Amino acid sequence: MAFPARRLRRLRRTPALRRLVAETDLRVDDLVAPLFVREGIDEPRPISSLPGVAQHTLDSLEAEAKHLVSLGVPGLILFGVPERKDAVGSGASDPDGIVQVALRRLSDTVGGEIVLMADLCLDEYTDHGHCGLVRPGGTVDNDATLERYGEVALAQARAGADVVAPSGMMDGQVGAIRGALDDDGFAETAILAYSAKYASGLYGPFREAVDVTIAGGGDRRSYQQDWRNGTEAVAETLLDVAEGADMVMVKPAVTYLDVLSALVRRVEVPVAAYHVSGEYSMIRAAAERGWIDGEAVMLEQLTAIKRAGAAFILTYFATEAAELLGG
Ligand code: PBG
Repeated sequence: MAFPARRLRRLRRTPALRRLVAETDLRVDDLVAPLFVREGIDEPRPISSLPGVAQHTLDSLEAEAKHLVSLGVPGLILFGVPERKDAVGSGASDPDGIVQVALRRLSDTVGGEIVLMADLCLDEYTDHGHCGLVRPGGTVDNDATLERYGEVALAQARAGADVVAPSGMMDGQVGAIRGALDDDGFAETAILAYSAKYASGLYGPFREAVDVTIAGGGDRRSYQQDWRNGTEAVAETLLDVAEGADMVMVKPAVTYLDVLSALVRRVEVPVAAYHVSGEYSMIRAAAERGWIDGEAVMLEQLTAIKRAGAAFILTYFATEAAELLGG
């Protein structure tokens, strides 16, 4: 018998053959666009570390949401940048807080045509920049924070969120939010839990996007996961599902594909992945220098996330990818 016995290159010979046997199909339906809306501005403000992404005004947010609808993108997730921050993050649950105002506007204009998700956290709204309430000694108080999360969930649900997405990594947050929603008649509001969220260095540009500096040069390692651990991600996720999470998420994406793949085998709810700000900016920066082909690397990474089992992907490339992939 001639060597080699098996010729795998036969099926790679032409584009049509490759298309025929391709296992993974990245689609517009896989994309969710993160959008920032800032209180008290008249013009959208570019975010220098996230080229192509802006802090929106209410008007530019609405225009962007309509554009996403026209491209067939099925979801968006909102982050608010308030004018004023305080110790308890009041703006997060204020009915007139920026995200609530934006949600009412979007549910009036594009509601039903695109899934309206709201990131549920306090860090954008607190003056110390932590995701929860801080005790006098500087540590984050888990259980006091849960009460605040319940209030934020209700404010978002009342304003028209289809999905609330707790990202603060407090223990028991999903159960607390589910309870608060159910008690107030919002049994139909879904929860997308950031279940396996790591204390990653890849959130840098996001913090510029939402004007967050953690007080005293602190970090989030006392509540976000240690990136040396994988088993812990399974424990976190199983708990979130038991507490009522309708969907769960891994974040960041590309550095945690092993975690994503493990979770997809362990839970019976959709597992999403967040291709975060640093992952986006690294591609954009290298492409700007001509060091990589940005479009090719974008498609490679998003497809890899899908191949690892993601049900959908939150990505700052949503518009660009949707334009490339077609409806
Ligand atoms: C917390 C939150 C963060 C991101 C999403 N939700 C920041 C953090 O945990 O520090 C990061 C998203 C990104 O980097 O794109 N509200």
